[in-house]
Amino acid sequence: MRRAVILAGTGAIGWAAARRLTAAGWEVTVTGRNPEHVPPGLGASGARYVLADRDDPASLPRVMAHGADLLVDCACHTAAHASGLLPFLADASSSVMISTKAVYVDARGRHSNSNDPPEFGRPVSETQPTLRPNRAPYQSREGYGPNKVAAEETLLASGHPVTVLRPSKVHGSWSRQPREWYFVKRVLDRRPAVLLAHRGTGADHPSAALNIAALIETVADRPGRRILNIADPDCPDGATIASVVAAHLGHSWRAVLLDESAPPALGRHPWDRVPPVVLDTTAARELGYTPAGTYAETVVEEIDWLVGIRATGHPLARVVADPCHPGPPDYAPEDDYLGSMSGPGGAGKGGQGGP
Ligand SMILES: NC(=O)c1ccc[n+]([C@@H]2O[C@H](COP(=O)([O-])OP(=O)(O)OC[C@H]3O[C@@H](n4cnc5c(N)ncnc54)[C@H](OP(=O)(O)O)[C@@H]3O)[C@@H](O)[C@H]2O)c1
Repeated sequence: MRRAVILAGTGAIGWAAARRLTAAGWEVTVTGRNPEHVPPGLGASGARYVLADRDDPASLPRVMAHGADLLVDCACHTAAHASGLLPFLADASSSVMISTKAVYVDARGRHSNSNDPPEFGRPVSETQPTLRPNRAPYQSREGYGPNKVAAEETLLASGHPVTVLRPSKVHGSWSRQPREWYFVKRVLDRRPAVLLAHRGTGADHPSAALNIAALIETVADRPGRRILNIADPDCPDGATIASVVAAHLGHSWRAVLLDESAPPALGRHPWDRVPPVVLDTTAARELGYTPAGTYAETVVEEIDWLVGIRATGHPLARVVADPCHPGPPDYAPEDDYLGSMSGPGGAGKGGQGGP
């Protein structure tokens, strides 16, 4: 039986990969810091959980004591993290480092975390220039992409068969950053209307954890030293995502498509990127990867999970209530705006009802 170790594997990507690999007959070990955050179905899936902090240098030799045919690292953020992996790469037939599309820069040096949004002008392929490593902390907007680049370079320079995956906006159950909460919360609050900046045309390519897991399995069977983008086969805009979420939860609302005359803070959902950011996934396809599903087909798992953890008061429900994430919304400005649209002189105030 082939053996896989997934570091930091109780979140969206790790949980999807663990299920995919166990179903394919792998023996899977996942690590994490907090036993309360282990998906309850993990044991039943056949995977094993090991409590191990990725930042503790003593944890890797312990977790890798029996070797691994496949090593997946979902918490490799810096060159130091990558250096810690190097002694174990020779024992793995294939290793996967989860990086990010935030490494890409456009011709003017703009990127996912710059104040001005990037304009790539076409779907972004793996040959797009990247940020340069810097000294900013990896948990900062300035340091996240550069530190990922440093980690990628450290692993690829090792000469071992390491595949760097660059997802975009990840969705999946057990995500610590479930962005769909922005719309799920509005559905649970039975909002009659949803406001969408840029007329709902903003888009930032989603990457289903289920699709990332499918590519991880492909890579396990085809070891190599390479970089691959990974994103859903489609790139829905904000209006489409809002309607997918509402439809799945059996809610109907009026989509209010805002133009530039509307207050700028209104309708700023997490995918509001104009021009849209789209990843080119041709290289993954050419390797033999087949997506698990479209955005609408794969996102329902996260939507159902979000509704469920809120209802049961699971500890992770606190994560989606955190104001750093799309947390408790302030509906007052939305209601004021909707009121001004329907009142005298409301027509032409920058909003337009859509289907
Ligand atoms: N989320 C996105 O939109 C996105 C986009 C592009 C790239 N990425 C990359 O994807 C990776 C995250 O994957 P994900 O989205 O599946 O994660 P996630 O849903 O955010 O979950 C994070 C996972 O990492 C574990 N973890 C965090 N710090 C750890 C540590 N020091 N030691 C052990 N476990 C630790 C968490 O377990 P505990 O709860 O037990 O700590 C959890 O299992 C990161 O490398 C990130 O840069 C994410």
